[in-house]
Amino acid sequence: MSSKGKKPVVVYGASGYTGRLVCEFLRQYQIPFIAAGRDGKRVQEVMDKLPGIETADYEVAEVSNETDDLAKLFKGAKVVCNIVGPFERFGEPVVQAALEAGVHYIDTTGEPAFLEMVKDKYGAKFADKGLLLAPCTAYMYTPAEICARICLEDGDIDTLEVVTAGGFVPTFASTQSIYSLFSHDAKYLKNNVLEAWVPGKGYEVYVPGFAVNQLVHPWAGGNLPHVFKEHPTVHTVRQFSGNTDRDLMEGVIAMQQQFEEEVRSIKSESKRKATLDAMVDAVESFMPPRELTLVNRSCDIATGTGSAGGRKVVIQSTSPYTQTGVIQAATVNMLLAQPPAKVGFATACEAVGHHYLLGQLKSFFPLKLTITDV
Ligand SMILES: NC(=O)c1ccc[n+]([C@@H]2O[C@H](COP(=O)([O-])OP(=O)(O)OC[C@H]3O[C@@H](n4cnc5c(N)ncnc54)[C@H](OP(=O)(O)O)[C@@H]3O)[C@@H](O)[C@H]2O)c1
Repeated sequence: MSSKGKKPVVVYGASGYTGRLVCEFLRQYQIPFIAAGRDGKRVQEVMDKLPGIETADYEVAEVSNETDDLAKLFKGAKVVCNIVGPFERFGEPVVQAALEAGVHYIDTTGEPAFLEMVKDKYGAKFADKGLLLAPCTAYMYTPAEICARICLEDGDIDTLEVVTAGGFVPTFASTQSIYSLFSHDAKYLKNNVLEAWVPGKGYEVYVPGFAVNQLVHPWAGGNLPHVFKEHPTVHTVRQFSGNTDRDLMEGVIAMQQQFEEEVRSIKSESKRKATLDAMVDAVESFMPPRELTLVNRSCDIATGTGSAGGRKVVIQSTSPYTQTGVIQAATVNMLLAQPPAKVGFATACEAVGHHYLLGQLKSFFPLKLTITDV
């Protein structure tokens, strides 16, 4: 594909549950895109079923998960949205290709090992080229960060407790990614030092809109402890995620306990990796139904405190996975309009602004923002 007349955005993993949502919302922003994946026929079949696709300006590309092939595809574009996970397995060639082709990179990962690897290995290289490297541009991370950043608008906040509680149905790749999350210590920030959570333990938290407390979990520790590690005033960050389906959450916690006993205890690294790969490969492929606006609710909460109290910021909304489609497309929209406010390893909130992203979420979903003193 010549780079002349090239579409400005490549959605890699367009055939997946989330990839198609990103394409759907790029269409809402009237942004031309390339829908890419390892199987062009499958990508086309998915695109053919996208609501309103007849008015989208797009083309389909088949590409392998190899750096050279991906870089050739990305050349001449401005942004790549990477939605192929588990990212620890498939992500690095995509980051390398984005750097080689000189395009901004955003993805939907929440895998901390991948996050730390790209930050350390590629953050400065992206910054040198004036490019953004923004993993976690997705539900579970961006709305929670919007809440956290609104807390920080009061200058005396040094401690953040962040909770994401959604009624979502995990997708195939999300389920596979859970094993990748469990393979590493989930970390929180305690007085400027990253500490490991005790694995396999859930926490009860109050979530507005629910009569009974919800069961949440550090999941993989979240991105915010890493994002705020070098922050001048914030010294402590604890981030939790949960599904409002209690059975599902109890299942996730039991799964992690079993994983600790049966996989993390294996001494040989190669044997441990082989066991992990076998577990990931054993997850049967499935495609959950599209979310229902009136059923699949979401709630993101950040409580920010300092010596003299603080504030609690809550976003109540709907359709968590669909929010990822908007968050990605809205970030792309701003990146095409102006350079990012921060380059190198950064979040979408830092690059395009948390109030902008909040506004875009409000444009597409019923959304209630509540700010209270605590
Ligand atoms: N933070 C969040 O809230 C959030 C939200 C959504 C997604 N995510 C993450 O985003 C990732 C994708 O999720 P999803 O919901 O779209 O999952 P999905 O429906 O299972 O789709 C996975 C995508 O990856 C592609 N893929 C799988 N194996 C591949 C390989 N070996 N080479 C190239 N492409 C491959 C699939 O292509 P085929 O169709 O050809 O198999 C498909 O396009 C997951 O890691 C998930 O955890 C996070």
